[in-house]
Amino acid sequence: MAKLIDGKAISQAIRDEVRDEIAASGIKATLAVVLVGDDPASAVYVRNKKLACEYCGIRSVSYELPADTTEEKLLSLIDELNNDPEINGILVQLPVPDGIDEDKVIETISPMKDVDGFSRASVGALSIGAEGFVSCTPAGIIELLKRSDIEIDGKNCVVIGRSNIVGKPAAMLLLRENGTVTIAHSHTKDLAEVAKKADILVVAIGKPEFITADYVKEGAAVIDVGIHRLDPEKNGGKKLCGDVKFDEVEPVAGAITPVPGGVGPMTIAMLMKNTVAAYKMQH
Ligand code: GUN
Repeated sequence: MAKLIDGKAISQAIRDEVRDEIAASGIKATLAVVLVGDDPASAVYVRNKKLACEYCGIRSVSYELPADTTEEKLLSLIDELNNDPEINGILVQLPVPDGIDEDKVIETISPMKDVDGFSRASVGALSIGAEGFVSCTPAGIIELLKRSDIEIDGKNCVVIGRSNIVGKPAAMLLLRENGTVTIAHSHTKDLAEVAKKADILVVAIGKPEFITADYVKEGAAVIDVGIHRLDPEKNGGKKLCGDVKFDEVEPVAGAITPVPGGVGPMTIAMLMKNTVAAYKMQH
């Protein structure tokens, strides 16, 4: 039986730490949250980010723009927020609608306010081990491991997936913690064989229940970044699943994150931490 890595409890502990720090220090941090269009999943994420701000004592200001917003208009809003000393962090929920260049959006956000850690400046800082904002989901993965007393130093870490938002930064962070890191992806030969070498297996491939017991070494820590909606009528009442076939992998693993309640809640907790860090950097 694997130890369950409880992202819900760990993220709550982090939110409480942020709230206590803010209450004790009188920090008055403000996060600007920008949502363009009406993607329902994005709307839920944004609502949860605003609720977390409220819980922690961070002011959030919200900009909900219609789907036909022009790139020029969005970039000019970001510019305004960059120049507003009352705004400490800027978050533009991704994806943005077609016709708006995501890369331009990310690069327009001031690196001093890039609490998502997506900009070239932030990613570059991470890869040379300099100070900078680290993207929230990968930072949350490291917190999950550390707070579950899972040693990274000297361990074989395999990250499956090479996205700019999760796979690549997760690999850089594991490397920073002295892991021996392999990044596997859709062109990797014998993926199961590669994955089976992992003491720590981070799965961010975006395919429901793709990773079965055949991919997992006995006793490995398995971090499942995937989240997929299921039809509960066809799945015994289950509404969500990850990239890992939990019921099959759990008996083999030493530790595992559930979906939901694993990596998911960590992203927002780390965003709260980054927003306080942004405030401190600017003061
Ligand atoms: N879309 C999916 N995940 C994220 C995230 O962490 N930040 C932003 N801004 N958009 C996202």
